[in-house]
Amino acid sequence: MIAAPERRVVAVLFSDLSGFTRLSAGRDPEEVRDLVDALFSRFRVAIESLGGTVDKFIGDAVMAVFGAPVAHADDAARAARAGLVLQKETASYNEERRLDLRLRVGINFGEVLWGSVGGGAPTAMGDAVNVAQRLESAAEPGTVLVSAAVERLARARVRFRPLGPISLRGIPETVEAFEAMEAIAGGTDVRDPGDRPAPLAGRREELDRLGGIVREGRGVVLVEGEAGVGKSRLLAEARRRAREERPESWIAEGRAPEEVRLPLAPFGEILRATAVIPLTGGDEASGLASWLERDLGSGDAMERENAAQLIVLSLGYSLPQARVRGIDAERRKSEAFAAWERWISGRCARAPALLCLEDLHAADPATLELLELLARRAPPGLALLAASRPLPAGALPSFPRLALGDLPEAEAAVLAESVLRARLSGELRAWLLQSSGGHPFYLEELARHLRDTGQVEGDPARLRGAPDRPDGLLGLLVSRLDAFPAAHKEVLKAASVVGRAFWPGILEGLVGTSVEEAIREAARRGLVEPAAASALPGEREYVFRHALLREAAYRLLPKKERQRLHAAAARRLAATVAGGRRVRAMAAAQWEAAG
Ligand SMILES: Nc1ncnc2c1ncn2[C@@H]1O[C@H](COP(=O)(O)OP(=O)(O)OP(=O)(O)O)[C@@H](O)[C@H]1O
Ligand SMILES: [Mg+2]
Repeated sequence: MIAAPERRVVAVLFSDLSGFTRLSAGRDPEEVRDLVDALFSRFRVAIESLGGTVDKFIGDAVMAVFGAPVAHADDAARAARAGLVLQKETASYNEERRLDLRLRVGINFGEVLWGSVGGGAPTAMGDAVNVAQRLESAAEPGTVLVSAAVERLARARVRFRPLGPISLRGIPETVEAFEAMEAIAGGTDVRDPGDRPAPLAGRREELDRLGGIVREGRGVVLVEGEAGVGKSRLLAEARRRAREERPESWIAEGRAPEEVRLPLAPFGEILRATAVIPLTGGDEASGLASWLERDLGSGDAMERENAAQLIVLSLGYSLPQARVRGIDAERRKSEAFAAWERWISGRCARAPALLCLEDLHAADPATLELLELLARRAPPGLALLAASRPLPAGALPSFPRLALGDLPEAEAAVLAESVLRARLSGELRAWLLQSSGGHPFYLEELARHLRDTGQVEGDPARLRGAPDRPDGLLGLLVSRLDAFPAAHKEVLKAASVVGRAFWPGILEGLVGTSVEEAIREAARRGLVEPAAASALPGEREYVFRHALLREAAYRLLPKKERQRLHAAAARRLAATVAGGRRVRAMAAAQWEAAG
């Protein structure tokens, strides 16, 4: 299926090689091609590893897009980092091949139309693209020139130098430009806006339940909830309490990385966080193995050595000297699990243990199996807390669950107040709650954005005017939609035209296919939920969980498509005789929006 064209807010990166003419002079064209080709392969790797898409190569120029087909919350920063990486790649390539290539990079951020022209691969089109190209031509060779929008969005993760207003070819007004200087270490995480986290708001009951399990030292709980709802935060708080109550405890955490599937990655992190191995001398694998051998306590030395090797091998390390390498895979796995159990229960016998396994939605099957085994055996003294985003039923073992949802109003307000360091006026409180739906991450981001852009004043804090939304937040929301299968995403986009509330029957008329499956999936992922009551008799009503989420879906639609869908919605609603006044009013509004 060819994806429908979308209006997307993206970072566009242009780069162009200079010194190219000199390179070509006196060289065979094939040789030149090979030289450029080798460098551009490195460019592609760099761009893609930062989540960008190479839009096209045009001669000695490269155009890349960050934010399409998949958005991230930090696309501007990713693009700026990519620009710096391309400069580094060029420099080291020059050194290796004794060349003198110079690269100019320009980056802009803005709305584009993303779609295919003439049946080709999708590409970004629009003014934002032209400005990126103009910035590139204005850049000094060897530098990365970005627009003010990029600087504003990326400044927490990249250091910039202001260049003042510059004029760009073909653009009447001057624009503020910045030069990207260097990436700020550790600034990759979206959840790290260089701000101290707000004190924990609410979650008292949830913490008590986790605390009970930790104190009892037996059992497992799976905390389940959508991205950013506060699972990691809750687990961190549980660990903090455990540390306070029983400082002698063994407390460790491991995460399943989303980028790569490594075998038993969360357990591997727990091991590495616990093991004390010398930093120098020998490789990590053998260091871990000999540490484990000692930590496995008394008992037959040969058995301990085997167990230690099995554990290290099960993490994907290679141990050339390992004796256990010969045995077949199935047996090796069950023996490795037995070794893990032995190590963990041995430690629990010495001190109470709290092990946290995060992001299980990205975990490999072995991690889930080992977790299940530990939950079943329940060695005394071991408390296991796991966290996952919602997954299809049956995808995770049936552990006791703690469903984590949005914050109730009063607690959401507390969170916003601690970000703004002021009480909230009634109007601001209502706006924040309505926009975020009490989702802690959105709420925190919105409040920070208002604060950092000077859109609130006074105590109690009031809005200074009509608030605008942070672009970064929109990227985050769009990324949640992008994670959907394409056909489902089209259904949600059409639903956004109906409004924050919509009905399967109306929607079916708009998209011409069955929508049940898409709605069910969207509900499971916390994007929409059934409303308590329905304005259409006999029709279930659904609502987008957050007003912002509906807006994010709506903004993806090209204008013409919006109008077509509004008109179709108007016809469907008008035909719904049973609807009464509210429905007639909605139909009228749809006609109006259809223009
Ligand atoms: N109850 C709360 N009080 C204050 N801040 C909170 C609360 N819950 C979440 N936050 C903040 O919201 C942000 C997102 O929370 P967190 O990282 O725990 O989400 P998550 O559920 O682990 O998401 P993911 O599925 O992406 O891992 C963090 O900055 C966190 O500090
Ligand atoms: Mg998390």
